[in-house]
Amino acid sequence: MLPKKTPPPEEPFVPKKGKTPMLVRGMKDILPVDWPWWNLVIDRVISVARDFGFERVETPILEENAMFVRSVGKDTDIVEKEMFAFTDRGGDLVAMRPEGTAGVVRAYLEHGMLAMPQPVKLFYISSMFRYDRPQSGRYRQFWQFGFEVLGDGHPVVDAEIIAIGATIYQELGIPVRVQVNSVGDAASRTAYVKVLTDYFKTRKNRLCEDCKKRLVKNPLRILDCKEQDCQLLAQDAPQFVDHLSEAAKDHFVKVLEHLDDMDVPYDLNPRIVRGLDYYTHTAFEYTVADDIGVEKQQSAIGGGGRYDGLVELFGGRPTPAIGFAGGIERTIMQLKARGIQPSAPGRPDVFLAQLGDTARRKSLKLFRELRKLNIRAAATFSKTSIKAQLEAANRLRAPFTLILGQKELVDGTILIRDMESGIQEIVDFGKAVGEVQKRVLKAANDAQLTNGNGSMPTV
Ligand code: HAM
Repeated sequence: MLPKKTPPPEEPFVPKKGKTPMLVRGMKDILPVDWPWWNLVIDRVISVARDFGFERVETPILEENAMFVRSVGKDTDIVEKEMFAFTDRGGDLVAMRPEGTAGVVRAYLEHGMLAMPQPVKLFYISSMFRYDRPQSGRYRQFWQFGFEVLGDGHPVVDAEIIAIGATIYQELGIPVRVQVNSVGDAASRTAYVKVLTDYFKTRKNRLCEDCKKRLVKNPLRILDCKEQDCQLLAQDAPQFVDHLSEAAKDHFVKVLEHLDDMDVPYDLNPRIVRGLDYYTHTAFEYTVADDIGVEKQQSAIGGGGRYDGLVELFGGRPTPAIGFAGGIERTIMQLKARGIQPSAPGRPDVFLAQLGDTARRKSLKLFRELRKLNIRAAATFSKTSIKAQLEAANRLRAPFTLILGQKELVDGTILIRDMESGIQEIVDFGKAVGEVQKRVLKAANDAQLTNGNGSMPTV
């Protein structure tokens, strides 16, 4: 339902002085302690995207509300109940994106990507907004990694897109199965919706109140209703695959064959119809393949499908397209539940410690010089005690520290302290950079030898 046009507030809201502001319900901070897990997922997504030839895109959070109503569908839960939509100060009805596909298609058309060599392969790592009931694994602001291929209708692309998601989860250590279905082309859909409506009409009194409404507006939605009675009815409902046109059936069979070729584990699941209206042909979700106690309800950690009609719906020429998106929070929940640890953050090559103002200024210059040579130097320049600085060096796991004290300043030297043994050497200040370079090179060679000896890097 579209929100009413309300005039912008006259006066800006002024919070009460002294009242500590709190998180808005359904929102979450991503704190420094969380980032190792976020980086683990993001790094994997970027590396898989690069290997499969995808380029990164970021579209704005705010788009025209009408764009989502048209693409996601006016009778879907997302548009009816979950949109953060409002009238801006200029009177335009805008919405915070509930999903990424519509914005990518808009950008594809707006930037003339239709005229580029096809397919255009794009990926994003973006936050989405849905005004849903918050619970574990379900937030009002959440993050997705998404992949979209525009301009290629070959069934092998469906299998490739499905395999990309499976690869990301598998490489992260999450066993997934793909739940796959076909929702056919427009003709198959019309035929199936009629059969389905007839089936549910005769059993209407057993449907929940929401599904009674869905029966009129969008009967497909009944298939993924969470109410037990509706689920029981859905189990025996006619299946989409039995009402596919010959062309749609042929496409689906080829997708499954290619999934077999690629060794991607999948289940045929007639109940995967997806909560967005733009899907055609292949529709799929990623579910975790084992049950390790993460709430079952949230077990779909990703999903997607073909949307061959969307570019045309947005005014472009008919263009096949397919994509999927994975929820980052749900992926991280799985990683944590499985005890998968992100590797410790990389350590600096060297730490710089100093005593007094003159030494600090000299250290600042040395710091810049080392960084210019691509040596990862770290320091805490505001600290005055050497003890506190050495503690910081240990926390960062720096292998050695350059110490510039009063005596070294006078002598034109610097101390090099091995942080493991505590042994300190005095070197000429002018030779410090060369000495650091030598040690960094040696450490890199040692690490290469260790890895070459068969030790496995941690995930
Ligand atoms: P979706 O199934 O609505 O698809 O969302 C994809 C994933 O986003 C879900 O599987 C889930 O992991 C995560 N997700 C959804 N809602 C929430 C929430 N409230 N809190 C946390 N995580 C959530 C789409 O959005 C389509 N645009 C996917 C697509 C791309 N289809 C084609 N291309």
